[in-house]
This record gives sequence, structure tokens and C-alpha cells, in this order.
Amino acid sequence: MTEGASVEEIERSRLAGHYACHGMALFPHDAVGNAWTAAYIQAKGDPVADLHEDMAAEQKARATYEHLIRMTDDPGVKDTLQFLRQREVVHFQRFGEVLRKVFEYQDSKQFY
Ligand SMILES: [Fe+2]
Repeated sequence: MTEGASVEEIERSRLAGHYACHGMALFPHDAVGNAWTAAYIQAKGDPVADLHEDMAAEQKARATYEHLIRMTDDPGVKDTLQFLRQREVVHFQRFGEVLRKVFEYQDSKQFY
């Protein structure tokens, strides 16, 4: 999205802060500048808890893509975001299928 952009164009965009700190480098952060860290990922070592965490992450990603889709009128960006949004829906469904299998396994073994 920034390929070929001048510094003046970047300054007029919402990317001025990113450019000031990171130039044109990739540096994952959220919309208000919070850097991505591994602390965003939770793992309990319990398949039921961890699968619910995974499913929540997929739904949050879907919601974020929907917010971004509403914020753009660029057809190429919108198409890409809609594709990515659909992938999150599929990921959520796959995690849900695994969760059902975990419950079936636990029930079959009298887990508790
Ligand atoms: Fe995903």
C-alpha cells in the first residue's frame, strides 16, 4: 500500500506515526500503535480452554476484517479483506470441529 508513496503522502495519511518510528519497515502493531507481542497468545495446556481461545481469536480477526472492509472504498483492498475474512470463518469452523472431537474423546474415556 505504501509502494511508491512520497514522504509527503505518508505524512498526510494515517501512517505518519509508523513512518516516524519504523520508516517503510514492516512492524506489526494494532491500529493505535500497540506493538504485537506473544503476550497476546494464551495457552493453558488444556485442549478445551485452548480451543476456545483459538476460536475467540478467529472471531476477533473476522470482526477486525469487517471493520476494515467498512473503512475502505478501494475494490482491490475490499476483495482481499473479504477473502481474509472468509478464511477466519473457516478457521473458526475447523477449531469447532476439533473441539467437538475433544468432547467426544473425553466423554468416551470418562475423563473426569
Ligand atoms: Fe485465522
